[in-house]
Amino acid sequence: MILRQITIALVLTFMASASWADLNLARKSGCLACHSVDKKIVGPGWKDVAARYKGQADAKALLIEKVKKGGKGNWTQVTGGVPMPPYSPRLSDADIEKLVDFVLSL
Ligand code: HEC
Repeated sequence: MILRQITIALVLTFMASASWADLNLARKSGCLACHSVDKKIVGPGWKDVAARYKGQADAKALLIEKVKKGGKGNWTQVTGGVPMPPYSPRLSDADIEKLVDFVLSL
């Protein structure tokens, strides 16, 4: 019984720290100047992004391209046409993939 509780506590800690690490990467990379998880700042809230692309098979590749190259047009009604800045090569491909995985997991 106690072992089970310890296991659950460990799993929860691990899950929490995984998303904390992703959020920290987002903060370090400057994303949080324009995004938050659940509301629009300059760019769309990331939960809204996840909801829009839910179930779309090519979403990950598409969003990786967008974060690398920047661009606008997908969220004009939310942003008034402000573009998303390009992040490659400022951020490594691995970090960009991590951030996109995080956004899509919300
Ligand atoms: C200067 C403000 C700004 C910063 C900084 C910024 N974004 Fe954005 N982001 C935007 C805007 C504006 C949009 C909406 C673009 C559009 O209309 O297509 C956007 C859109 C997005 C989208 C959805 C793209 C789509 O086509 O649906 C993702 C994912 C995203 N940003 C991730 C990130 C990540 C990850 C970072 C940090 C590495 C970041 N953003 C930094 C402003 C910003």
